[in-house]
Amino acid sequence: MIGDVVGEPGLAALERELPSLIHEYKADFTVVNGENAADGFGMTERALNRILQSGADVVTSGNHVWEKREFWSVLESNDRVLRPANYPPGAPGNGWLKMKKNGVFWLVINLQGRDRLRNIDCPFRAFDAIFRTYGDVEPERHELYGMFPQPVSTLVDFHAESTKEKESLGFYLDSRASVVAGTHTHVQTADNRLLPGGSAYITDLGMTGVQDSIIGMDTQICVDRAVKQVLYHLECAQGESSVQGIAAEIDEKTGKALSIRRIGRTASEQG
Ligand SMILES: [Fe+2]
Repeated sequence: MIGDVVGEPGLAALERELPSLIHEYKADFTVVNGENAADGFGMTERALNRILQSGADVVTSGNHVWEKREFWSVLESNDRVLRPANYPPGAPGNGWLKMKKNGVFWLVINLQGRDRLRNIDCPFRAFDAIFRTYGDVEPERHELYGMFPQPVSTLVDFHAESTKEKESLGFYLDSRASVVAGTHTHVQTADNRLLPGGSAYITDLGMTGVQDSIIGMDTQICVDRAVKQVLYHLECAQGESSVQGIAAEIDEKTGKALSIRRIGRTASEQG
């Protein structure tokens, strides 16, 4: 899973590094958060296609996904891009995707936090509702719903501001989700770990873009906004860009995680 792609530098880093990362880690499935791909704010269809062509199987998003209104129809027509699942009914697009790849059933769920973000529907109950229908592994339920004949590898992108809310969701989903990965804050956290029930967890995947920046944006503009309290137009930082995220190993027989390690890759680096 790869952290938020920020602007052209992020897209370029992804195109440069993701194919070799997928090869090196023998990744069966790749999720990339693209909500800042279009100059830092939202996505365009072209940016989405560049992320998919880099090797992403599913592209997740967050609160900025609504920035480009022309993208709303793409949310409806392209099932490989997700917006958070806990927006109220009627919001454009889908919040989860189930698919089979490399002999494994995958369920990807995008959720958004509510602490210091918009007060949308409950992310905890949104997961319950989706997982109850599509992720449950109890055999007697398979016939009932005509569902997956084997455990599902469930990947959750939790786009949230609050560390406490992210950890709470991690423990709430522990043993049900294979991986719970936070996004949105753009600074990779060093708390990647396996939770007691077998879910892999990290508070924030980090950011794909220019690291010598303020969350991927131009440092001087961000400092000026903070100091002068004037809403100067934000621009993406320019410079050397890198890809950040995690690689998790999942036992396909149980859907439980076996390991989770952080990825940080700048041009021509290994590891
Ligand atoms: Fe973001």
